Amino acid sequence: MQLTLAVLFSAALTSVTAEQRVSYDGYKAYSIVTGDDGQAIRDKLSDLDFVALTVHEASDHFDVAIAPDDVSEFEALGLESSVISDDLGAEFAEESIFEDYYSTSDSSLDKRQASALPALSWFNSYHTYADHRLFFNDLNAAFSQNSEIFVAGKSYQGRDIYGIHFWGAGGKGKKPAVYFHATVHAREWIAAPVEEYHAWQLINGYLTNDTQITAIVDSYDFYFIPFSNPDGFVYTQTTNRLWRKNRQPRSSSSCIGTDNNRNWPFQWSLSGGASTNPCDEDYKGLAASDTPEITTLVNYTKSINTNGIKLFIDFHSYGQYILQPYGYNCGIYPANINKQLSVANQVATRIFAYSGARYTTGASCSTLYATTGSAPDYQSGVAGAEYAWTIELRPSSSSGGGFVLPANLILTTAREQWEGLKTLFAAI
Ligand code: ARG
Ligand code: ZN
Repeated sequence: MQLTLAVLFSAALTSVTAEQRVSYDGYKAYSIVTGDDGQAIRDKLSDLDFVALTVHEASDHFDVAIAPDDVSEFEALGLESSVISDDLGAEFAEESIFEDYYSTSDSSLDKRQASALPALSWFNSYHTYADHRLFFNDLNAAFSQNSEIFVAGKSYQGRDIYGIHFWGAGGKGKKPAVYFHATVHAREWIAAPVEEYHAWQLINGYLTNDTQITAIVDSYDFYFIPFSNPDGFVYTQTTNRLWRKNRQPRSSSSCIGTDNNRNWPFQWSLSGGASTNPCDEDYKGLAASDTPEITTLVNYTKSINTNGIKLFIDFHSYGQYILQPYGYNCGIYPANINKQLSVANQVATRIFAYSGARYTTGASCSTLYATTGSAPDYQSGVAGAEYAWTIELRPSSSSGGGFVLPANLILTTAREQWEGLKTLFAAI
């Protein structure tokens, strides 16, 4: 097997203009027990060089990565904590060993035909944005009578927000939409492969005449977007593995980036569910839908909403949750919330039976925390999606790796999600 240090390679190619890669070598990560006084803990850390790994305060722990020179000073504070990682940089390096992708369209390779589906070894490692694009092109080529690649629009830096649209026997654009987004948060690398695995399984099942899968594909039009924030994703591979937001600057600040999962035009102006500070990880922007990515995705949502949206899922990591609307108010729910919860519970039960992984279900605001301008809130509250969920994938906690899910768990995660998705389709 040939391995490439794809990240280092692409960074070298652009080194003339690119920012210096942020090094986490020797950073030691801890989960600190905060109890109900997170601020006191933060004050004690104020002299240290550290990176916060927890975005939201609404929890009883605060996770940090301490710079190598300050580790002994941190330990001298004697805070109640557990070690999450002995060397974050070493973990990032291991995760960034990407296997080469052999495109089915590369005619110089043996035993490949344009009609073949991409090999499942794709899911053995993480990949570059360019290879992800090739993977969907190849999937499309294998199903070309029933699928097409679309470009919904461009990101701030001009990358394509691409996806695959596929359909069954009824023909193109005739059925309610099943609409999936992934990687709105750049560092959540497991999200795109899970979505790709769903596409692979649906298309493979249809091509091999699996009756259950054929019935599913015949019932809907599928629109899968693996990178709703491509600029952020590329930035995590070239410069800073822990980047979350998009890469759009604001004239009012030297901080970069808006959280696109706080920018959707639904209940955007409420306070409390997002930050108005451009330096924060959950910065909401200056106005609803004022990022190029959300402008694109709002328009795209409208364009596919001709026969209704049956199911919308936004894939994130981590924490293992299956969340229903709404995020903006912990006391407001869609009219069919009981049905949504019951289906989510069936999905979680199926996943647990299959792999033993526990996914927590519930309305997103009360189960996790309040958010304004999130994608499922818009899909439910404005676009009228019947089911509009956030799925937080593996791991369950920062001690399981947090945003770094080891590559050998990509397929495990994708398979349990696929079992859950089949249960979901049977229940709706
Ligand atoms: N972790 C994701 C985010 O911060 C999803 C939030 C899910 N929604 C919620 N209301 N908690 O955007
Ligand atoms: Zn996320």
